[in-house]
Amino acid sequence: MPAKVVVVGSLNMDLVTRASRLPKGGETLIGESFSVVSGGKGANQAVAAARLGAQVSMIGCVGRDAYGDALRAALLAEQIDCQAVSTVDGSSGVALIVVDDNSQNSIVIVPGANGALTADQLKRFDPVLQAADLLICQLEVPDATVGHALKRGRELGKIVILNPAPASRALPAHWYGSIDYLIPNESEAAALSGVAVDSLDTAQAAATKLIAMGAGKVIITLGAQGSLFADGNSFQHFPAPSVKAVDTTAAGDTFVGGFAAALAAGKGEAEAIRFGQVAAALSVTRAGAQPSIPALSDVQAFQAP
Ligand code: RIB
Repeated sequence: MPAKVVVVGSLNMDLVTRASRLPKGGETLIGESFSVVSGGKGANQAVAAARLGAQVSMIGCVGRDAYGDALRAALLAEQIDCQAVSTVDGSSGVALIVVDDNSQNSIVIVPGANGALTADQLKRFDPVLQAADLLICQLEVPDATVGHALKRGRELGKIVILNPAPASRALPAHWYGSIDYLIPNESEAAALSGVAVDSLDTAQAAATKLIAMGAGKVIITLGAQGSLFADGNSFQHFPAPSVKAVDTTAAGDTFVGGFAAALAAGKGEAEAIRFGQVAAALSVTRAGAQPSIPALSDVQAFQAP
């Protein structure tokens, strides 16, 4: 039986423009291409966990519109259980994304239906949480919902992962005690800890602070520099596989989903981190959010000696 992962989070339709560079304030640029791609941090992490071996359920909301239908269909195509994906009045979440020639992106999100995922609604879907081995949350749905999910995940004895993305502010202090694995990137780690993260040393300092705040273990993703793992006793740096990047959108989501799938399947932390890093590296060689997420066979082929 594959391990069961539940994701509480966002579904967004990504409206993606490629341009030679990101526009400055007040500037109009001529872009190179446009595409409409299924995304959202929650849905991306669900797709990554499903493609990488887990049995996945999604808890979220889409709008009563064509994007909502397409977002749900994209998850169903991955055999993700969508009984807890509700359709609500109004528009689905959208993300306006620009990707430049250096594969960097800028993203503006309009949450739309994601804002309708309330803690009360989550309570209705408690059996879905109960059935899972591992819970993943991010920050694209209301804070009260995330707070309830973390607390309930801890009460039920699940492995609880929080990817605090996007984060530009401190988290409620009482959340930390419910988190087994906190997985921020550099800027998120800085926003949460107050420590500017621009090196392995500063990443260690930030991770130390986040563990002192109550997080069980911390993995700070460092882009091309890999990731830093901290468990309160020691640190371990995991260098990233070297690849030619095309588009970094959803690389962090692919890492989180891959790490979660491997961990839920019983792999050790180091093996799960390396697995997630290979999956994330493969994702940056392809364009788009969900279309870029590799299959288990791609990761296994990359890892084969
Ligand atoms: O992490 C990438 C995702 O962030 C995109 O798919 C977009 O929808 C935003 O949520």
